[in-house]
Amino acid sequence: MGLSVAIVGATGAVGVEFMQVLEARGFPVDRLTLLASPRSAGSKLPFKGRDITVEVLTEDSFKGHDLALFSAGSSVSKKYRQACTDSGCLMVDNSSAFRMEDGVPLVVPEINPADAAKAFRKNGGKGVIANPNCVTIIALMAVAPLHRAIPVKRLLAATYQAASGAGHAAMVELQEGTRAALDGRPFEPKVLPLPYAFNLFPHNSPWIDAEGYCEEEIKLSKEGRKILGDPAFNASATCVRVPVLRAHSEALNIEFTAPVSPEWAYGILRSAPGVRVVEDRARNRWPMPLDVAGADDVQVGRIRTDKSQPNTLDLWVVGDQLLKGAALNAVQCAEVAFFGALAPNRR
Ligand code: A2P
Repeated sequence: MGLSVAIVGATGAVGVEFMQVLEARGFPVDRLTLLASPRSAGSKLPFKGRDITVEVLTEDSFKGHDLALFSAGSSVSKKYRQACTDSGCLMVDNSSAFRMEDGVPLVVPEINPADAAKAFRKNGGKGVIANPNCVTIIALMAVAPLHRAIPVKRLLAATYQAASGAGHAAMVELQEGTRAALDGRPFEPKVLPLPYAFNLFPHNSPWIDAEGYCEEEIKLSKEGRKILGDPAFNASATCVRVPVLRAHSEALNIEFTAPVSPEWAYGILRSAPGVRVVEDRARNRWPMPLDVAGADDVQVGRIRTDKSQPNTLDLWVVGDQLLKGAALNAVQCAEVAFFGALAPNRR
C-alpha cells in the first residue's frame, strides 16, 4: 500500500527535486498532488512517466493525504500548517518556520532518526518534522559521527554557498548575470542583493544582527545543538554566497576535547552512512561542487591536523544543497517516520 503525497512549492527548485527523489528512491506513492501559487496553476510536471497538473494551494489541498512535503517559504508553511495537520497529514517542512519550536523535531535521519519516529507516533500521524538549514545538514553529516566518538569543543565554518539555496530564480540570475557579464552588457540583479557573476558576498540573509552575524551564520549553532541533543555544541560561521549552481562547500575547523588524528577521522567517516570520503592525492582530486551536483552522499576530504591548535582538525565537505541540503533529507525524514528505515542512496 502506497501513500498519498502532496508537494507544496512543486514548481520551485526544491519542489522539482522532491519528485525526482521520491521516484529514484522508490518511495511508495499511490497519489501525488502538486501544489503551488496561482501563477503556475495548470502547468504540468512529469512523475513516473506521466504528467501531473499543478494545482493552487488551498486549505482543502491536504484532505486524504498522508504526507505533505513543504518548500514554499516560511510564510506559506505557517499559513497552511494547521490545515495540513488537521487533515491527519504529516508535514515535513523545509522552511525555517518551526525548526526551533519545542516539540517539533529537527531531523537529519542519519544522526537523530529516533526524533522523527517518536514525534510521528506521539502526534498520531498529525505532526510536523522540520528539515534543518542546508549548511547545518551538510556540516553535521561530517561532524556528528566524529562528535559521537570524541565530543567537539568548538566548530568554525567558512561556507561557499550555491545559488540554489536562494531558489530557482537565483539560479537563473546567476546564469543570466554571467552571460551578460561575458557579453559586456549591463545586468540588474533582482533576486540577490549584489552582482553575482564573478563575485562573492556575505550570505543574503534578511538581517545582520548587532554583533555582525547574519541569520544563516547563527543557524549552525542553534540547529546543531538541537539535532545533536547537546546544549554545549558551539559553532561560529562565515557564510558566503559563491557563483556555483547547486552544491554547497564548507571548510570546517573542528576542535575536539581530546587528541585526534586525520587517520582516526578518515576511519570514522569511511563508514558513516550518507558520507563518502573522496581523496585522490595522485590525481589531485577532492570533493568539488560540480562532482557533487546530483549526488545523494555528502563528500568529505582534505582532512588534516591544524598545527596551530591542539586537538584540532581541518576538513572540507561538499553536499548537494537541493538534495541532502533539502529534498533528499526531507524524503528521508518521511522514510524514517513511516517505514522506520532509509532507502539506499544512489551515489
Ligand atoms: P510558483 O512557481 O507558483 O510561484 P523557489 O524556492 O525555487 O523560489 O520556489 C518557491 C516555490 O514556492 C514555487 O513552487 C512557488 O510557486 C511556491 N510558492 C510561493 N508562494 C506561494 C504561495 N503563496 N502559495 C503556494 N505556493 C507558493
